[in-house]
Amino acid sequence: MRGLCVLGSTGSIGISTLDVVARCPDQYKIVALTANNNVDRLYEQCIRHRPGYVVVKSPVQASQLRERLNSVNGQTVEVLSGAAALAEVAALPEVHSVMAAIVGAAGLLPTLAAAKAGKRILLANKEALVMSGLLFMAELSRSGAELLPIDSEHNAIFQCMPANYRAGSRAKEARRILLTASGGPFLYKPLDELDRVTPEQACAHPNWVMGKKISVDSATMMNKGLEVIEASLLFNTPAEKIEVVIHRQSVIHSMVDYIDGTVLAQMGNPDMRIPIAHALAWPARFESGAEPLDVFAVGQLNFEPPDLTRFPCLHHAYRAVKVGGTMPAILNAANEMAVDSFLGGAIRFTDIPRIIEFVMDQSVAQPVDSIDTVLTADQQARQVAKGYIQRAIKT
Ligand SMILES: NC(=O)c1ccc[n+]([C@@H]2O[C@H](COP(=O)([O-])OP(=O)(O)OC[C@H]3O[C@@H](n4cnc5c(N)ncnc54)[C@H](OP(=O)(O)O)[C@@H]3O)[C@@H](O)[C@H]2O)c1
Repeated sequence: MRGLCVLGSTGSIGISTLDVVARCPDQYKIVALTANNNVDRLYEQCIRHRPGYVVVKSPVQASQLRERLNSVNGQTVEVLSGAAALAEVAALPEVHSVMAAIVGAAGLLPTLAAAKAGKRILLANKEALVMSGLLFMAELSRSGAELLPIDSEHNAIFQCMPANYRAGSRAKEARRILLTASGGPFLYKPLDELDRVTPEQACAHPNWVMGKKISVDSATMMNKGLEVIEASLLFNTPAEKIEVVIHRQSVIHSMVDYIDGTVLAQMGNPDMRIPIAHALAWPARFESGAEPLDVFAVGQLNFEPPDLTRFPCLHHAYRAVKVGGTMPAILNAANEMAVDSFLGGAIRFTDIPRIIEFVMDQSVAQPVDSIDTVLTADQQARQVAKGYIQRAIKT
């Protein structure tokens, strides 16, 4: 039995992970679960999965949870709190694999701790990789940690790569990566209506059920932009060889184009349990709980190029990867601030790409030579974004 730590167990990916693990009880033992504020869901997960450790945000939440768990027979969970505890549980000796499913920059340090400790990392938290870039990849190769992508697109690419492929290496026979995108809820919405869309509309994705932040990222296509950066690092491929393809049905999850003209695609229903089960079982396979794909019901597969006027965030992401250094971290920080403000009702949907462009214009990228450089760039970008947002609210 392999020990599993689920960082962000109370979120959409965390819940799907525990669902898959429950289908193969002889494969994984849950060592640690973590949440931010959702203590009620974490309590339920403790009762069901009996982890050795859990982490919550604050000491007050920890003592409340400890009290609730003490009254349940046979529960011997160590309840910890704070950011340092996230990194601690990710590196525990009894942990074999870490599902990195915290949303946003908060996932960076615990995911890096897992990499340093040589764990097998199942990476959903794309922001961690976008921020730390080559530093993270270097840590993987130094420690010998394995990385399996959870993003459905990157998991698809991984599955289309040659046998024995390892994340971070370059498959020379692969000449292009075709990264598919659904286009989100506003693909065909008249451009002059985008100013008035609400957070509820932005979170209503046509094919996937996800957390709020990634849902908004899908609506702006910043999610695809972050995925281009993620793919360039994971598959050691320049961004100009990564082409975004709008594929409305979300049945093909991405493709690899080989030098002999072969194009390999990975297909399946849009259900995150498929890439999660793939990564948990790799190199074997086990049941995910997903419905088999009904190709007759799908009927057609369509493809179209993305419109960068409608989706300026995608353009900003290509710009960030071209500039390099800390610019992807700056892009990510500006986006997190903008999305948070949009979800809170403070700014319009169309302000999101404006804020990102402004922050990038105001920032100078530095070489990513240490994690402190990354965190400083992140903090400075957040300050610039905050100033812009405050001015936008006043006007
Ligand atoms: N959902 C998908 O289908 C999907 C697909 C591909 C990739 N991803 C990526 O997977 C990651 C997770 O996405 P999601 O949709 O599962 O997000 P989500 O539903 O919002 O869940 C986020 C998880 O992170 C925890 N968290 C949030 N802020 C935190 C903080 N400051 N410190 C510690 N923990 C924190 C949350 O705890 P609480 O519940 O207590 O707030 C929750 O457990 C993202 O990076 C996303 O881009 C998601």
